[in-house]
Amino acid sequence: MDKLVLEPIGIIHSPHTEESATPIQPVCAEGTRGRVEVFPQYNEGLDGVEGFSHLHLIYWFHRAERLRPFPEGQALKVVPYLDDVPRGVFATRSPRRPNPLGLSLVRLVERRGAELIVEDLDVLDGTPLLDIKPYVEGFDLRLGTRGGWTENVSEETFRRRGTRRRDER
Ligand SMILES: C[S@@+](CC[C@H](N)C(=O)[O-])C[C@H]1O[C@@H](n2cnc3c(N)ncnc32)[C@H](O)[C@@H]1O
Repeated sequence: MDKLVLEPIGIIHSPHTEESATPIQPVCAEGTRGRVEVFPQYNEGLDGVEGFSHLHLIYWFHRAERLRPFPEGQALKVVPYLDDVPRGVFATRSPRRPNPLGLSLVRLVERRGAELIVEDLDVLDGTPLLDIKPYVEGFDLRLGTRGGWTENVSEETFRRRGTRRRDER
């Protein structure tokens, strides 16, 4: 199984059109509203999502350069938005990765048929959606975790670089 085939189940519509002006995580995009268009053939699969306040969106970073390992490609290091030091790609949430898969925890405002109104989007407009999973505290919440290099990022840097608002840059 050296190749996998993924088919988008929908499209994420968001107000973000410029990579460098898009918040770097949902916590930096609080209130940013958008629309998840789920293709009609998947509508039935949404039954029950109304009961969840938050959803994980799994998607393809369609505008990111794919990172290929040496020898023919690049080093598997990226400089995270919150840092100035190259880090192993798997120790970051960079969109530049061998398989450019994104994961965003968004707030579900409303389901309108096969359309989900969501908030806290850190995703570019037109992003292909691959999957949706409900956020469940009992499954997903962890306390007392370690945050690796992110523990050395100051709150000020996090706010300034994370939101990527023009007045913060
Ligand atoms: C650091 S990534 C984190 C995304 C997600 N929360 C994650 O952890 O996988 C967020 C950045 O990815 C970029 N981005 C968002 N959607 C993208 C897309 N469809 N293609 C390429 N880059 C994208 C934007 O520049 C945004 O600031």
